[in-house]
Amino acid sequence: MDFVEQVKSQIDIVRVVGDYVRLKRQGAGERYVGLCPFHTEKTPSFSVHAGHGFYKCFGCGAGGDAIKFVMEMEGFTFLEAVKALAERNGIPLPRNANYSDEDAKRRTDLYRLNELAQDLFTRNLWSPAGESARAYLSRRGITDAQAKDFGLGFAAGGGSELVRLLERQRVDKALLDSSGLVKPRANGDGYYDTFRGRLTFPIHNESGKLVAFGARVLDPEEQPKYLNSPETDIYKKRTVLYQFHRAKESMRKQGRAVLVEGYMDVLGAWAAGVHEAVASCGTSLSAEHVRNIRRHTDVVVVNFDPDRAGENATERSIQVLLDEGVDVRVLQLPGGLDPDEFVQQHGADAYQQAIANARGYFLWLADRAKARFDTASTAGRVKALEFLLPAIQRVNDRLRRSALADEVTSYLGLERSMVLDKFRSAAVARKDGPLRVEAPQASHLEHILISCLVNLPEVAAEILPFLNGLDGWRKLPSAPVLDAILRAWKAGEDLRFGFIEPRLAEADKDILSRMLLDEEVHKESHTRDQAIACLRKLDLIQIADFRRELKRRVREAEQQGDFEEALRLSHELTTLDAQRPLS
Ligand code: UTP
Ligand code: MN
Repeated sequence: MDFVEQVKSQIDIVRVVGDYVRLKRQGAGERYVGLCPFHTEKTPSFSVHAGHGFYKCFGCGAGGDAIKFVMEMEGFTFLEAVKALAERNGIPLPRNANYSDEDAKRRTDLYRLNELAQDLFTRNLWSPAGESARAYLSRRGITDAQAKDFGLGFAAGGGSELVRLLERQRVDKALLDSSGLVKPRANGDGYYDTFRGRLTFPIHNESGKLVAFGARVLDPEEQPKYLNSPETDIYKKRTVLYQFHRAKESMRKQGRAVLVEGYMDVLGAWAAGVHEAVASCGTSLSAEHVRNIRRHTDVVVVNFDPDRAGENATERSIQVLLDEGVDVRVLQLPGGLDPDEFVQQHGADAYQQAIANARGYFLWLADRAKARFDTASTAGRVKALEFLLPAIQRVNDRLRRSALADEVTSYLGLERSMVLDKFRSAAVARKDGPLRVEAPQASHLEHILISCLVNLPEVAAEILPFLNGLDGWRKLPSAPVLDAILRAWKAGEDLRFGFIEPRLAEADKDILSRMLLDEEVHKESHTRDQAIACLRKLDLIQIADFRRELKRRVREAEQQGDFEEALRLSHELTTLDAQRPLS
C-alpha cells in the first residue's frame, strides 16, 4: 500500500479533528458534530464522519479528509500533513522517502534551528553562566521545576554564542536570515545574536512545535523589557498564543480560557493551578487567536493588568472576543496587581476564586462608562449608553440582548424606552451570519440507495453491474454521485468516501457529504432488499427488468461453466418475488 493510504487507513479522523475541535457524537452513528474551525458560528454546522473519514461544514463549505484538515489547520503542505499525522500516530516514515517539498524543508530547518537555540539557552540557564538568571527566577518565585517545565533558558550576554553554534552547524545564509534568531551586523560583517543577556521563554504553536522565543531583560535598566522573535515562516504572531499547546486540554476540562497579558502571568497562573491561561506574545489579540481558543471553549476570562494600558487592551479584546461569539468575563484584580503578582501575594486559592467569580464583561464596561462620564446628568447617561453600544451591537442573541437592556437601564439609571431605541438601531446594523451552501436536493430514496452502495459491499457488487447497464438514474439529482461510485467500482476501488469524492466535480462534492451525514437515513441500518426497493421506487427498474437481468446472468454463468454462481443467481431469482419492498 502506498504510504499516504497507509497513514489514512491507520488514523482516526475523529481523533485528528478532535485535537482541534470539540466534537460531540451524534446519536449512535458514526457522525460527530462541532463548531466549524474555519468560520465563526454559534451553532454547529461542522460534521465529521468516522467511518468514511471525512469532515464537512455546511456553513462555509470546508471539507475533506484528515490530511486536508491538518493542512488547513496548520498551513501545512500535503506532505507535511502526512508526515505530521504519521508522527503523531507512531507510524514510521518510510526510509529514504523524501516527504517534503522546498517550503516544507525550509520550515523543518527553521524548527531545527529553534531547537538548537533552545538547547543552548537551557544549557546556559543551568550552567554556572546562568547563575544571575536563576537568582532572578527565584526572586520572582519561580521554582526550578517550573522553569524546567516551561523550558525557560538564558541567552548569554556576549552576543555571538548562538551565531557561532549555528555557523559550526554550517547553517546557510538564507536560512540564518529567515530564522529571526540572529541578525546581520550593520557593517555587513556576519551576524549577532538576537537575544543577549536575557531570560528566554520558548513559544510553541498549537501542535507543540517550538517556533519562536520571548526574552526578558534581567537588568531593569535595559530596554525593551521584552524582546520577541520576529515573524518567520513558522511563526505568525496573530495566530500563536503563549502556552496554548498545553492550555487547550485544561480549556476543555474547565470550560473556560483565561487570557492574561504576559509570559510571567501565564507562569503565575499555571503555578496556581490555572492551566488554561494563555497570552498573546507582544501583539494585540486577533480574531485568529480567538478562533483558536473557541475551538476548545466558549468562555474567556480576560485578566489583564489593572493599569491604563491593561484596561484599554481589555476593552479592545472584548470587542474581538464578542465578534467571535465568545462568552466574555472580565477579572480586574485588586490592589493594582497583575495575575503573576496576585498569585505571589495571595496564593493559588485566592486566584482560583477570583477567576471563578469573574463578572460578565458588560458590568465591567458599565463601570468604565460610569467612571468616564457623569451619569448624574442626562447628557452623561446618554454618552455612557453610546459608549456601551458597540458591545451591545455584537450580541447576536435576542434574549441576551434584552436582558442586557434591563441591566443597563437599571445600572445607569436610564429610561428603558431610550435604551430600547438605541438597541433597535444597533440590531439593524448587526452583520449577517455566514453564507449557507445550497446543494441540489436528492430524495430520501436516493440517500438510502447510495448509503447501501457505499456501506454494504455485497449489495454494491450485486447492484452496480446492473446499474451500469441502465440510464434512468442519470436524471436524478444524485446522478453525479452514482456516476462517481460506478467509476470507482470499475476501477476496482473501495467504495469509500476517499475514493468517490475525488471523482466528483467541486459542486457535487456537497451532495455526497450530505448523503453520508444524513441522520434520518442512517438511523436504521440498511439491507439489500431496501436497496432493490429504492431502485424500483425510483422507477429505475421494474421487477421484470431485474428478473430479466438475473436470468441473463444465470445463462452467462452457465455458459462460462461457473455453476456455483449460476446456482446462486437462480436462488436469488426464486426469492425475488418474496421480497418485501420498502414502504
Ligand atoms: P508586562 O510588562 O505586563 O509583562 O507586558 P509581564 O509578563 O507582567 O512582565 P514582568 O512581570 O515585568 O516580567 C505584558 C506582555 O507584553 C509584551 C510581552 O509579551 C509581555 O509578556 N511586552 C512587554 C513586549 O513584547 N515588549 C515589552 O517591552 C514589554
Ligand atoms: Mn508582571
